[in-house]
Amino acid sequence: MKNRSQFIERYVLRPPLICYQIFVRYWLKIGVSQNRSDSDLNIGNFQFDNNGFMTAYFGNVQYLYAKCRKSAPSEIENFVDVGSGDGAVAYFMARKFPKLRCYGIEIDSSLHDLAMNHISDDTSNLRYLHISALDWNFELLLKNSSVLFFFNSFGKDSLRVFLTKLMSYSQEKDVTLYFIYLNDVHRELFEERGIKNVYLNKRKQSIWQISQSNNL
Ligand SMILES: C[S@@+](CC[C@H](N)C(=O)[O-])C[C@H]1O[C@@H](n2cnc3c(N)ncnc32)[C@H](O)[C@@H]1O
Repeated sequence: MKNRSQFIERYVLRPPLICYQIFVRYWLKIGVSQNRSDSDLNIGNFQFDNNGFMTAYFGNVQYLYAKCRKSAPSEIENFVDVGSGDGAVAYFMARKFPKLRCYGIEIDSSLHDLAMNHISDDTSNLRYLHISALDWNFELLLKNSSVLFFFNSFGKDSLRVFLTKLMSYSQEKDVTLYFIYLNDVHRELFEERGIKNVYLNKRKQSIWQISQSNNL
């Protein structure tokens, strides 16, 4: 199979068998693969956790996104996979929710190239950007509300910088951002900033609401 979009089309968006649907629903409760190495890698001027892992169970992404929708005061307009790897999560969300604008931001050029294979006539609501999330000026998030999906994308120092930028942006533009954090090993960065927790489970998955009411 050339890339994961074919897999998603064939087996996730239109599962062929009823038993497969049951399987997907089961995974909806189980989650995203949580594998992680303890070592941090340093590349260029940023640092990220070893991230040879990709989201495997898209039902879980949908489940966590539904939690954000439930909590959001207005329609969610953007979904951004921060550190999108091969782009499969953003692709899945774009196909599943055609009205949602979906973006994948990836620093690694070979992964970005892989992600670009997902682009077709059916994906007018999907865009991939080849940049470091730390250099991104959030111009995509101008409107209320947006969901950021974050799975092991970078280490603690980089996450601290990223969060500070996000919070200033939210204050300045008065936008509400939902941050889906998978394998939330640096959860204390959110807690110590008083960011509102919307959802938490025992599988190291959490959702945080960044809005004007947070302290800078
Ligand atoms: C664990 S992968 C997750 C991939 C995808 N989000 C998923 O769930 O399948 C984390 C990705 O973050 C990317 N990454 C790390 N630091 C980044 C940065 N500063 N800006 C953008 N992407 C980054 C890595 O190259 C890697 O592809």
